Amino acid sequence: MENNRTSFGSNFGFLMAAIGSAVGLGNIWGFPYKMGMSGGFAFLLVYLVLAIFVGLAVMVGELTIGRKTGLSPVAAYRKLSKKFTWLGYMAVLVPFLVLCFYFVLGGMVTRYALGYLTAIFGWNTWGVDNIADYFGQFICNGGSMILWTAIFIAINGMPALFVMLLIVIIYVACQPGAGGGYKFMFGWNLEPLKEDFLNVLKTAAGQMFFSLSLGMGAMITYGSYLSKQEGVQKNAVIIVICDTLVAIMAGMIVMPACYAFLDGNTSSGPGLLFLSMQLVFDKMGYIGNIMGFLFYALVFIAAISSSMSLLEVITSFKVDQNVEQGKAPGRKKYAIIVAIIIFIFCLPTCLDGLGTGVNDGATLGTPAEILGMEWGEAGNITEFAKDTTYYTVDETGHYSAVAADAAFDANETYYVNTAKGWNCDWLDFYDMLSEGIMMPLGALVMAFAIGWIWKIDMVVEECEQSGHKFWGKGFFNVCYKIITPIGMAFVLYAQVTGFFG
Ligand code: TRP
Repeated sequence: MENNRTSFGSNFGFLMAAIGSAVGLGNIWGFPYKMGMSGGFAFLLVYLVLAIFVGLAVMVGELTIGRKTGLSPVAAYRKLSKKFTWLGYMAVLVPFLVLCFYFVLGGMVTRYALGYLTAIFGWNTWGVDNIADYFGQFICNGGSMILWTAIFIAINGMPALFVMLLIVIIYVACQPGAGGGYKFMFGWNLEPLKEDFLNVLKTAAGQMFFSLSLGMGAMITYGSYLSKQEGVQKNAVIIVICDTLVAIMAGMIVMPACYAFLDGNTSSGPGLLFLSMQLVFDKMGYIGNIMGFLFYALVFIAAISSSMSLLEVITSFKVDQNVEQGKAPGRKKYAIIVAIIIFIFCLPTCLDGLGTGVNDGATLGTPAEILGMEWGEAGNITEFAKDTTYYTVDETGHYSAVAADAAFDANETYYVNTAKGWNCDWLDFYDMLSEGIMMPLGALVMAFAIGWIWKIDMVVEECEQSGHKFWGKGFFNVCYKIITPIGMAFVLYAQVTGFFG
């Protein structure tokens, strides 16, 4: 009896820590904006299919590797096979890349939360802009308390986030026009898949990895903390379901809000959360200040619990290395050093105006602008081609888009944007490398190794150690051997051709 209770207690702690790390900006910022840009229902459908056929299997795989080896990713992969040690190293690089924009978004959320807090007391601070300064403070927090803090924040923050999301869902639902958002999300429409299947697939896949914290070995570390008495599969299912639920709830706020307040324009990209929610809270009047504060404060908590564990993945790699070499762990020191280095890499994300670029008034150029690959002459055209945006350039070197209904002028030199995928902002660039390429690659190789080299029995044995029967062996086997590798190969193909092609 006694024993049972303790293990329930520790498993609850494990789950809260794991879900607390999984539920974050990916769910609340990423999911709605990607859904908005990639076809609503079609995106949702592909996302759900991927979560079931790829996400769950990869989740079970990572937790298993972690619990079996009891080690963090580099050491864990090394122990399983020297050949795959690089997967572990990639699991250090990926959170690094993720944090290069995650921190910035966290800073933006903080600014919004504080802005609403002061607005409650009648002090309107919108228009002041010091996101980066504020945010430097919490990234310098030390490391040894991180796991406990994450558990604490998760237990306290998550149910409140859930309730807050529900309240805002209901408010938004009562706004005229909101219905279009539900239709966009849940109405059967596979047109976007017919138009550009690979685009929806790669967007949904990246989102799935990012949101479930998969494909970078983070769950290997969580697995190494998972008690040997606990069912791996049960925990994997709970994490996947809870995380997906929060994402869909965020979608049910932002999508209807777009229809109620933004004329149904859901495709404004990474700024969507900030743009749409400010309109929602503004509409609420004074009470909107309180709601806005609660909302952004809770998103902030979700973000900080996730970014702390992302940072911890990198720090603990260095700490493990030090310990191995008989040096002092230096956890606090390295947490600060890593945070500062990332802060420097955050600067491009802060300065390019989220893709606005120098051409449109930001301080720093987008990757394409910096590489000087953005503009090319349209050539000898005699009329405007459909679906192409043409630009003209003035004496100051400023390019402006030609209005869709403008008349063609044979004496004018027209330019087109030739940067293709490079034509993104720094946020997208970091995001494309991490969730777009490395996470699917990590998952592909891990699944391939489990399916074909280590064999499914490795997973089954580890999972059954706790006395729980492994269910769905055939299902998971097909996921590891075939669905994940092939699915992810498509994702990588779409990603690489979309960007460099
Ligand atoms: N899943 C987190 C989110 O949705 C982000 C994330 C990706 C993460 N990988 C992680 C968090 C690893 C912690 C550990 O915001």
